[in-house]
Amino acid sequence: MKISPLSPIGIFDSGIGGLLIAKEIKIQMPNEDFIYFGDTKNMPYGEKSKKFIRKNSIKIASFLYQKKCKALVIACNSITSNALDLIQKKFHRKILIFNVIDPVVNNKVFLSYKKIGIIATPATIHSNFYLKKIKKYYHNLDLVQISTPLLAPVIENGWEMKKINPIIKNYLNDLKSIDAILLACTHYLFLKQEIKNFFLGKVHLIDIQKIVVQEIKEKLSEKKLLCLHPNWNRFPVFYTSSSIPFFFEKKVRILFGRKVLFKTHVFNSV
Ligand code: DGL
Repeated sequence: MKISPLSPIGIFDSGIGGLLIAKEIKIQMPNEDFIYFGDTKNMPYGEKSKKFIRKNSIKIASFLYQKKCKALVIACNSITSNALDLIQKKFHRKILIFNVIDPVVNNKVFLSYKKIGIIATPATIHSNFYLKKIKKYYHNLDLVQISTPLLAPVIENGWEMKKINPIIKNYLNDLKSIDAILLACTHYLFLKQEIKNFFLGKVHLIDIQKIVVQEIKEKLSEKKLLCLHPNWNRFPVFYTSSSIPFFFEKKVRILFGRKVLFKTHVFNSV
């Protein structure tokens, strides 16, 4: 399949979580064109089985591949931790594949901490993906993992912060004496400020968006696939698997303005 630096980047998540990764892509690589897929019909992925996540994420990745994307960005920890191996195998040598976990755990930022806290969906925690990687590379690092099942759905549904804050507090109370926290669900990136406030600035928040997108930029440049054409930008397309949810549309407009397209794509049988 013919791809070039002008081809779009395909980004996907269960819903709005990956939008902040897409936004960071626009900040660090303003010439890039992208297609986003939010599997809003099946959100939350955090409560789904490994089998379900694998089956669905392959469908979305194939859909974006057929749209002639030059790279796939799995902007979801639940998908990365449960289906990365399968997606890599299926698209081996066909398309560049990025995820939101490897660049972070491979980053030397971890060397400066003694104890880190990870909050994530049940699907990510149960996969033990982080635990295995971190134990392999950082023998002396203490890790506390907490499954926070309520967070992604309330963020996706646009709950007001004053209602989300008590939920955050309830979960984070269990994270004592950590040096840094990893928001291991892209939906939680919308809560950065609230989480910083909870820890009164005493716990470092690992900057996932920056680290992940820096890696994407470096790889695209290395493969000569970075778009250097300043006027290339087309309208980004946002696909959802249900008719577009109100809050999804609202977030897209806030982050990307009015020059965007919305489409619905329903997969045959799941
Ligand atoms: N944004 C997703 C993640 O990073 C998952 C949210 C969900 O659908 O549960 O894990």
